Amino acid sequence: MDEYILANIDEEGAQLARLYRDAHVCLVRPRMLSGHLQGRLLKMLVRLIQPKRILEIGTYTAYATLCLAEALPADGEIHTIEKDDEMEDFIRKQIELSGFKDKIRLYIGDALDVIPALDETFDLVFIDADKRLYCEYYDLIFEKVRPGGLILADNTLWSGKVVKTVVPSDKQTQGILRFNEKIKQDMRIEKVIIPLRDGLTMIYKRILT
Ligand SMILES: C[S@@+](CC[C@H](N)C(=O)[O-])C[C@H]1O[C@@H](n2cnc3c(N)ncnc32)[C@H](O)[C@@H]1O
Repeated sequence: MDEYILANIDEEGAQLARLYRDAHVCLVRPRMLSGHLQGRLLKMLVRLIQPKRILEIGTYTAYATLCLAEALPADGEIHTIEKDDEMEDFIRKQIELSGFKDKIRLYIGDALDVIPALDETFDLVFIDADKRLYCEYYDLIFEKVRPGGLILADNTLWSGKVVKTVVPSDKQTQGILRFNEKIKQDMRIEKVIIPLRDGLTMIYKRILT
C-alpha cells in the first residue's frame, strides 16, 4: 500500500530524494526524517492555509523544512530549531541547494531556550523534536500562535506504543501520552489525530470572540 500511495502522489523531487539517500548513508537515525508522503502532506497544508510565518521544532536534515518552504508564499518565512550542532553542516548544505535560503532561518540550540527569545507570531507550528518535551514545547509556543493558526505534532501514536503497557523507563512514550492527554483536555483548540505514518496530530487554535 505504501508503494502504491507513493507511486500515485506527487514526486518528492530530485533534491529531497538525494537528501533521503544521503541521510541513509551518512546519518545514524534516518528514520526520523518526514519522508515522501508526510513531506507532500506538509507542502499541501502550506498550500491550503498560506501561512506567512512557520516554526519547526526539530530540523534534523531539513527534509520537512524544505517541503514546507516549497509552498510558502514569497514573503513567507520558516524558523527552524535544531539542538544537535553536528547536523548544522548537513542542514546548511541542503538549504543552500534548495533555492529557499531567503525563506529559512535556522537556529542551532535548544528549542526550550530559543522559543522564548523569538519575537514572532506564527501561523503554523510543526512540533517534531524530543518526545519527552512535547508538553513543554506546546506551552511555550501556544501564545505565539495566532488565533486561527495550526499546530502540527508528529509521532503522536509513537509506533503504537500509546496503546500498549508503558514501562517506567520509557520516558518518550510517557511524554507522548502526557501530550495527547493535554491536547484532549484543552478547550482552546480543535484537534484530530491522523493515523499517517507514526501519527500526526492537527491542532486548530480557536478564535475566541
Ligand atoms: C524527528 S527529528 C526531526 C525531523 C524533521 N522535522 C523532519 O520532519 O524531517 C527530531 C530532531 O529534533 C532535535 N531535537 C531534539 N530535542 C530538541 C530540542 N529541545 N530543541 C531543538 N531540537 C531538538 C533532534 O536533534 C532531531 O534532529
